[in-house]
Amino acid sequence: MAREKVWKDVIRADALEKKWVTRVDFGVRKLAVYDTPSGLYTSLALCNHGGADLCDGYFDGHVIECPLHQGAFDVRSGKPICAPTTRQMKTFETRVHEGMVQILT
Ligand code: FES
Repeated sequence: MAREKVWKDVIRADALEKKWVTRVDFGVRKLAVYDTPSGLYTSLALCNHGGADLCDGYFDGHVIECPLHQGAFDVRSGKPICAPTTRQMKTFETRVHEGMVQILT
């Protein structure tokens, strides 16, 4: 039977890098929280191509470019949009609740 998903606190909303990417340690995982023109989005921080930290990449609106090989993802969907990345990036539904950024996991 599948476990029911729950909202979990990630970081205070006022601690985010405005219009940029914030790296967050979340248990054993590292997350990237993106502040975009259409709201907050969250993904695993490590690129699924070669393991580079996406938080060190270039962020532009809704696109994160990996710092190692310049693959890119749309942070809203996790869709790979530029080679060499070809696999969907793991993303999490994200909200702000009582001043905390939360993800559904
Ligand atoms: S490690 Fe990210 S594109 Fe290669």
